[in-house]
Amino acid sequence: MSTQIGKDIEKAAALLKDSSLVAIPTETVYGLAANALDESAVAEIFRVKNRPTFDPLILHVADVEGVKKYSIDCPIPLLDFFEKNTPGPVTIILPKTDDVPFLTTSGLKTAAFRIPQHPMTLELLARLEFPLAAPSANPFGYISPTSAQHVMDQLGGAIPYILDGGPCSVGIESTIIEYWQGRVIVHRLGGMSLDTLKEHFEMVDLKVNRSSNPLAPGQLKSHYAPKKSLYCGDIETLYRAHEAEKPALILFSDKIPGLDPESQFVLSDSGSTKEAAQKIFGLLRELDQSNFGVIIAELLPEVELGPAVNDRLKRAAAKA
Ligand code: TXA
Ligand code: MG
Repeated sequence: MSTQIGKDIEKAAALLKDSSLVAIPTETVYGLAANALDESAVAEIFRVKNRPTFDPLILHVADVEGVKKYSIDCPIPLLDFFEKNTPGPVTIILPKTDDVPFLTTSGLKTAAFRIPQHPMTLELLARLEFPLAAPSANPFGYISPTSAQHVMDQLGGAIPYILDGGPCSVGIESTIIEYWQGRVIVHRLGGMSLDTLKEHFEMVDLKVNRSSNPLAPGQLKSHYAPKKSLYCGDIETLYRAHEAEKPALILFSDKIPGLDPESQFVLSDSGSTKEAAQKIFGLLRELDQSNFGVIIAELLPEVELGPAVNDRLKRAAAKA
Protein backbone atom coordinates (compact mmCIF):
# COMPACT_ATOMS: atom_id res chain seq x y z
CA MET A 1 0.00 0.00 0.00
CA SER A 2 1.35 3.45 -0.79
CA THR A 3 0.95 6.03 1.94
CA GLN A 4 0.18 9.67 1.18
CA ILE A 5 0.77 12.68 3.42
CA GLY A 6 -1.60 15.61 2.82
CA LYS A 7 -3.99 18.19 4.22
CA ASP A 8 -7.16 16.94 2.52
CA ILE A 9 -9.77 16.62 5.27
CA GLU A 10 -12.43 15.43 2.81
CA LYS A 11 -10.19 12.60 1.65
CA ALA A 12 -9.49 11.59 5.25
CA ALA A 13 -13.24 11.57 5.97
CA ALA A 14 -13.99 9.45 2.89
CA LEU A 15 -11.35 6.86 3.85
CA LEU A 16 -12.62 6.67 7.45
CA LYS A 17 -16.22 6.24 6.25
CA ASP A 18 -14.92 3.38 4.14
CA SER A 19 -13.50 1.64 7.28
CA SER A 20 -9.88 2.55 6.43
CA LEU A 21 -7.27 3.85 8.86
CA VAL A 22 -6.01 7.45 8.72
CA ALA A 23 -3.31 9.04 10.88
CA ILE A 24 -4.61 12.29 12.38
CA PRO A 25 -2.93 15.28 14.03
CA THR A 26 -3.80 16.26 17.59
CA GLU A 27 -2.20 18.73 19.97
CA THR A 28 -0.63 15.85 21.96
CA VAL A 29 0.66 13.25 19.48
CA TYR A 30 -0.51 11.88 16.12
CA GLY A 31 -3.26 9.27 16.35
CA LEU A 32 -3.95 6.20 14.23
CA ALA A 33 -7.68 6.64 13.67
CA ALA A 34 -10.59 4.46 12.61
CA ASN A 35 -14.36 4.39 13.10
CA ALA A 36 -14.66 3.50 16.79
CA LEU A 37 -18.03 1.81 16.23
CA ASP A 38 -16.80 -0.47 13.43
CA GLU A 39 -15.21 -3.63 14.82
CA SER A 40 -13.35 -4.56 11.68
CA ALA A 41 -11.79 -1.10 11.39
CA VAL A 42 -10.83 -1.18 15.09
CA ALA A 43 -9.31 -4.65 14.67
CA GLU A 44 -7.15 -3.17 11.91
CA ILE A 45 -5.75 -0.56 14.37
CA PHE A 46 -4.60 -3.32 16.73
CA ARG A 47 -3.10 -5.26 13.82
CA VAL A 48 -1.21 -2.34 12.24
CA LYS A 49 0.14 -1.15 15.61
CA ASN A 50 0.92 -4.67 16.76
CA ARG A 51 -0.95 -3.69 19.92
CA PRO A 52 -2.26 -6.25 22.40
CA THR A 53 -6.07 -6.25 22.45
CA PHE A 54 -6.07 -5.85 26.25
CA ASP A 55 -5.00 -2.21 25.80
CA PRO A 56 -8.18 -0.11 25.23
CA LEU A 57 -8.46 2.77 22.75
CA ILE A 58 -9.50 6.39 23.29
CA LEU A 59 -12.64 7.72 21.56
CA HIS A 60 -12.11 11.11 19.94
CA VAL A 61 -15.21 13.27 19.58
CA ALA A 62 -15.83 16.82 18.30
CA ASP A 63 -17.55 18.24 21.37
CA VAL A 64 -19.27 17.57 24.70
CA GLU A 65 -22.37 16.40 22.83
CA GLY A 66 -20.23 13.60 21.43
CA VAL A 67 -19.20 12.58 24.94
CA LYS A 68 -22.82 12.55 26.10
CA LYS A 69 -23.91 10.52 23.08
CA TYR A 70 -21.62 7.55 23.79
CA SER A 71 -21.37 7.67 27.59
CA ILE A 72 -23.83 6.98 30.37
CA ASP A 73 -24.38 9.19 33.43
CA CYS A 74 -21.62 11.72 32.92
CA PRO A 75 -21.58 13.57 36.30
CA ILE A 76 -22.38 17.31 36.13
CA PRO A 77 -18.99 18.43 37.58
CA LEU A 78 -17.26 16.49 34.80
CA LEU A 79 -19.46 18.01 32.10
CA ASP A 80 -18.64 21.40 33.55
CA PHE A 81 -14.92 20.57 33.50
CA PHE A 82 -15.19 19.39 29.88
CA GLU A 83 -16.97 22.61 28.87
CA LYS A 84 -14.26 24.76 30.43
CA ASN A 85 -11.11 22.78 29.59
CA THR A 86 -11.67 21.12 26.26
CA PRO A 87 -10.77 20.84 23.47
CA GLY A 88 -7.56 20.02 25.31
CA PRO A 89 -5.03 17.37 26.34
CA VAL A 90 -7.24 15.41 28.73
CA THR A 91 -9.08 12.08 28.45
CA ILE A 92 -11.97 11.06 30.67
CA ILE A 93 -13.13 7.54 31.47
CA LEU A 94 -16.90 7.04 31.65
CA PRO A 95 -19.38 4.16 31.43
CA LYS A 96 -20.02 3.51 27.73
CA THR A 97 -23.21 2.97 25.76
CA ASP A 98 -23.84 -0.30 23.92
CA ASP A 99 -22.97 1.41 20.61
CA VAL A 100 -19.29 1.27 21.51
CA PRO A 101 -17.98 -2.23 20.77
CA PHE A 102 -16.10 -4.11 23.50
CA LEU A 103 -13.20 -4.55 21.08
CA THR A 104 -12.62 -0.76 21.25
CA THR A 105 -12.58 -0.80 25.07
CA SER A 106 -10.79 -4.15 25.48
CA GLY A 107 -13.82 -5.65 27.15
CA LEU A 108 -14.28 -2.82 29.65
CA LYS A 109 -17.73 -1.35 30.34
CA THR A 110 -16.13 2.09 30.35
CA ALA A 111 -14.68 4.08 27.47
CA ALA A 112 -12.09 6.86 27.38
CA PHE A 113 -13.22 10.14 25.77
CA ARG A 114 -11.19 13.00 24.42
CA ILE A 115 -11.88 16.21 22.49
CA PRO A 116 -8.57 16.99 20.76
CA GLN A 117 -7.49 20.57 20.25
CA HIS A 118 -6.53 20.59 16.63
CA PRO A 119 -8.51 22.54 14.02
CA MET A 120 -8.10 19.95 11.23
CA THR A 121 -9.11 17.02 13.39
CA LEU A 122 -12.06 18.92 14.88
CA GLU A 123 -13.18 19.73 11.35
CA LEU A 124 -12.76 16.07 10.39
CA LEU A 125 -14.75 14.86 13.41
CA ALA A 126 -17.53 17.33 12.59
CA ARG A 127 -17.88 15.68 9.16
CA LEU A 128 -18.21 12.17 10.58
CA GLU A 129 -21.19 10.52 12.19
CA PHE A 130 -19.05 8.31 14.41
CA PRO A 131 -16.29 8.86 16.99
CA LEU A 132 -12.71 8.04 16.06
CA ALA A 133 -10.80 5.43 18.02
CA ALA A 134 -7.17 6.49 17.95
CA PRO A 135 -4.13 5.28 19.82
CA SER A 136 -0.83 7.02 19.19
CA ALA A 137 0.30 6.29 15.62
CA ASN A 138 3.44 4.29 16.42
CA PRO A 139 4.23 0.60 16.65
CA PHE A 140 3.28 -0.59 20.16
CA GLY A 141 5.87 0.31 22.79
CA TYR A 142 7.88 2.73 20.60
CA ILE A 143 8.11 6.51 20.89
CA SER A 144 4.90 8.38 19.99
CA PRO A 145 4.93 10.47 16.78
CA THR A 146 4.73 14.27 16.98
CA SER A 147 4.89 15.00 13.24
CA ALA A 148 3.42 13.55 10.05
CA GLN A 149 6.91 12.46 9.00
CA HIS A 150 7.35 10.47 12.24
CA VAL A 151 4.20 8.54 11.32
CA MET A 152 5.44 8.01 7.77
CA ASP A 153 8.79 6.72 9.04
CA GLN A 154 7.11 3.88 10.89
CA LEU A 155 3.68 3.25 9.39
CA GLY A 156 4.45 4.20 5.77
CA GLY A 157 3.18 1.36 3.60
CA ALA A 158 0.70 0.16 6.24
CA ILE A 159 -1.96 2.90 6.03
CA PRO A 160 -3.35 4.89 3.08
CA TYR A 161 -3.29 8.44 4.42
CA ILE A 162 -1.62 10.73 6.97
CA LEU A 163 -3.43 14.00 7.60
CA ASP A 164 -0.65 16.53 8.09
CA GLY A 165 -1.45 19.09 10.78
CA GLY A 166 2.14 20.17 11.45
CA PRO A 167 4.13 19.51 14.61
CA CYS A 168 2.15 18.73 17.78
CA SER A 169 1.95 21.71 20.11
CA VAL A 170 1.84 19.77 23.40
CA GLY A 171 4.04 16.83 22.41
CA ILE A 172 3.13 14.21 25.02
CA GLU A 173 -0.10 12.21 25.35
CA SER A 174 -3.22 13.39 27.14
CA THR A 175 -3.71 13.16 30.89
CA ILE A 176 -6.19 10.34 31.60
CA ILE A 177 -8.65 10.85 34.45
CA GLU A 178 -11.64 9.21 36.03
CA TYR A 179 -14.20 10.81 38.36
CA TRP A 180 -15.39 8.89 41.37
CA GLN A 181 -17.61 10.37 44.08
CA GLY A 182 -16.24 13.88 43.97
CA ARG A 183 -12.67 12.72 43.46
CA VAL A 184 -10.56 12.81 40.33
CA ILE A 185 -8.27 9.83 39.83
CA VAL A 186 -5.36 10.37 37.46
CA HIS A 187 -4.46 7.18 35.55
CA ARG A 188 -1.86 8.67 33.24
CA LEU A 189 0.09 11.89 33.63
CA GLY A 190 0.08 13.88 30.41
CA GLY A 191 -0.35 17.16 28.59
CA MET A 192 -2.78 18.68 31.10
CA SER A 193 -0.91 19.49 34.32
CA LEU A 194 -2.09 18.44 37.78
CA ASP A 195 -2.31 22.15 38.63
CA THR A 196 -5.01 22.62 36.00
CA LEU A 197 -6.96 19.67 37.43
CA LYS A 198 -6.57 20.98 40.97
CA GLU A 199 -7.93 24.37 39.91
CA HIS A 200 -11.18 22.65 39.04
CA PHE A 201 -11.44 19.69 41.44
CA GLU A 202 -10.82 19.66 45.18
CA MET A 203 -9.57 16.11 45.37
CA VAL A 204 -7.08 14.82 42.83
CA ASP A 205 -5.48 11.41 43.46
CA LEU A 206 -2.67 9.82 41.50
CA LYS A 207 -3.08 6.19 40.54
CA VAL A 208 -0.40 5.93 37.90
CA ASN A 209 0.76 2.37 37.53
CA ARG A 210 4.43 1.54 37.23
CA SER A 211 4.34 -2.22 36.97
CA SER A 212 4.02 -4.46 33.95
CA ASN A 213 0.50 -5.49 34.76
CA PRO A 214 -1.74 -6.20 31.77
CA LEU A 215 -4.79 -5.58 33.97
CA ALA A 216 -3.78 -1.94 34.13
CA PRO A 217 -4.23 -1.17 30.44
CA GLY A 218 -1.70 0.98 28.68
CA GLN A 219 0.33 1.64 31.78
CA LEU A 220 3.00 -0.93 31.14
CA LYS A 221 6.29 -0.25 32.85
CA SER A 222 8.28 -0.30 29.63
CA HIS A 223 6.80 2.02 27.02
CA TYR A 224 7.66 4.98 24.80
CA ALA A 225 11.02 3.25 24.35
CA PRO A 226 13.78 3.94 21.84
CA LYS A 227 15.75 0.96 20.48
CA LYS A 228 18.97 2.23 22.05
CA SER A 229 19.50 1.88 25.78
CA LEU A 230 18.27 4.88 27.72
CA TYR A 231 19.29 5.70 31.28
CA CYS A 232 17.88 8.45 33.44
CA GLY A 233 18.97 9.90 36.75
CA ASP A 234 22.08 11.70 37.92
CA ILE A 235 23.67 12.75 34.69
CA GLU A 236 27.33 12.96 35.72
CA THR A 237 27.33 9.54 37.43
CA LEU A 238 25.62 7.98 34.43
CA TYR A 239 28.00 9.72 32.04
CA ARG A 240 31.04 8.28 33.83
CA ALA A 241 29.49 4.80 33.87
CA HIS A 242 28.72 4.83 30.13
CA GLU A 243 31.46 7.06 28.76
CA ALA A 244 32.90 4.29 26.60
CA GLU A 245 29.53 3.72 24.89
CA LYS A 246 29.46 7.17 23.28
CA PRO A 247 26.51 8.59 25.17
CA ALA A 248 24.19 11.40 24.05
CA LEU A 249 22.96 13.55 26.93
CA ILE A 250 19.44 14.95 27.12
CA LEU A 251 19.43 17.92 29.47
CA PHE A 252 16.60 20.06 30.71
CA SER A 253 17.92 23.61 30.41
CA ASP A 254 21.72 23.78 30.70
CA LYS A 255 24.69 22.00 29.22
CA ILE A 256 27.29 20.58 31.58
CA PRO A 257 30.65 22.37 31.48
CA GLY A 258 33.60 20.07 30.91
CA LEU A 259 31.68 17.47 28.89
CA ASP A 260 31.67 17.42 25.07
CA PRO A 261 29.08 20.06 24.06
CA GLU A 262 28.36 18.22 20.77
CA SER A 263 26.93 15.29 22.68
CA GLN A 264 24.60 17.44 24.81
CA PHE A 265 21.02 18.25 23.81
CA VAL A 266 19.04 20.83 25.74
CA LEU A 267 15.23 20.58 25.79
CA SER A 268 14.47 24.15 26.82
CA ASP A 269 17.01 26.97 27.11
CA SER A 270 14.45 28.97 29.06
CA GLY A 271 13.72 26.12 31.50
CA SER A 272 10.12 25.56 30.37
CA THR A 273 8.68 22.09 31.08
CA LYS A 274 6.09 22.77 28.35
CA GLU A 275 8.78 23.31 25.75
CA ALA A 276 10.58 20.19 27.02
CA ALA A 277 7.36 18.17 26.58
CA GLN A 278 6.98 19.48 23.04
CA LYS A 279 10.48 18.38 22.11
CA ILE A 280 11.14 15.17 24.03
CA PHE A 281 9.73 12.55 21.66
CA GLY A 282 11.27 14.15 18.55
CA LEU A 283 14.66 14.30 20.24
CA LEU A 284 14.47 10.68 21.42
CA ARG A 285 13.71 9.60 17.83
CA GLU A 286 16.56 11.67 16.45
CA LEU A 287 19.05 10.25 18.95
CA ASP A 288 17.76 6.72 18.35
CA GLN A 289 18.76 7.13 14.69
CA SER A 290 22.07 8.86 15.42
CA ASN A 291 25.59 7.50 15.84
CA PHE A 292 25.49 7.84 19.61
CA GLY A 293 25.67 4.51 21.40
CA VAL A 294 23.37 5.13 24.37
CA ILE A 295 21.09 7.91 25.61
CA ILE A 296 21.32 9.46 29.07
CA ALA A 297 18.56 11.78 30.21
CA GLU A 298 18.23 14.17 33.10
CA LEU A 299 14.89 14.22 34.91
CA LEU A 300 12.92 17.49 34.83
CA PRO A 301 11.92 19.47 37.93
CA GLU A 302 8.61 18.11 39.30
CA VAL A 303 6.53 21.15 38.30
CA GLU A 304 3.93 21.73 35.55
CA LEU A 305 4.60 19.12 32.84
CA GLY A 306 7.80 17.90 34.54
CA PRO A 307 6.21 14.84 36.19
CA ALA A 308 4.56 13.80 32.89
CA VAL A 309 7.81 14.07 30.94
CA ASN A 310 9.68 12.22 33.72
CA ASP A 311 7.07 9.45 33.56
CA ARG A 312 7.85 9.03 29.83
CA LEU A 313 11.60 9.02 30.46
CA LYS A 314 11.34 6.42 33.24
CA ARG A 315 9.17 4.13 31.11
CA ALA A 316 11.48 4.63 28.14
CA ALA A 317 14.39 3.62 30.38
CA ALA A 318 12.64 0.56 31.84
CA LYS A 319 13.39 -2.81 30.39
CA ALA A 320 10.25 -4.92 29.99
O1 TXA B 1 -3.04 12.11 23.65
C1 TXA B 1 -3.54 11.00 23.54
O2 TXA B 1 -4.27 10.51 24.42
C2 TXA B 1 -3.25 10.23 22.24
C3 TXA B 1 -3.90 10.97 21.08
C4 TXA B 1 -3.78 10.23 19.79
O3 TXA B 1 -5.23 11.27 21.38
N1 TXA B 1 -3.74 8.90 22.33
C5 TXA B 1 -3.15 7.96 23.11
O4 TXA B 1 -3.71 6.71 22.99
O5 TXA B 1 -2.21 8.19 23.82
P1 TXA B 1 -3.00 5.39 23.50
O6 TXA B 1 -3.75 4.30 22.85
O7 TXA B 1 -1.55 5.43 23.26
O8 TXA B 1 -3.34 5.33 25.01
C6 TXA B 1 -4.65 4.99 25.41
C7 TXA B 1 -4.68 4.62 26.87
C8 TXA B 1 -4.68 3.14 27.12
O9 TXA B 1 -3.41 2.60 27.05
C9 TXA B 1 -5.27 3.08 28.53
O10 TXA B 1 -4.25 3.33 29.47
C10 TXA B 1 -6.22 4.24 28.54
O11 TXA B 1 -5.92 5.04 27.43
N2 TXA B 1 -7.62 3.81 28.41
C11 TXA B 1 -8.41 3.77 27.33
N3 TXA B 1 -9.64 3.34 27.63
C12 TXA B 1 -9.65 3.10 28.96
C13 TXA B 1 -10.64 2.65 29.87
N4 TXA B 1 -11.87 2.37 29.50
N5 TXA B 1 -10.27 2.50 31.17
C14 TXA B 1 -9.00 2.79 31.57
N6 TXA B 1 -8.03 3.26 30.75
C15 TXA B 1 -8.35 3.40 29.47
MG1 MG C 1 0.58 5.15 22.92
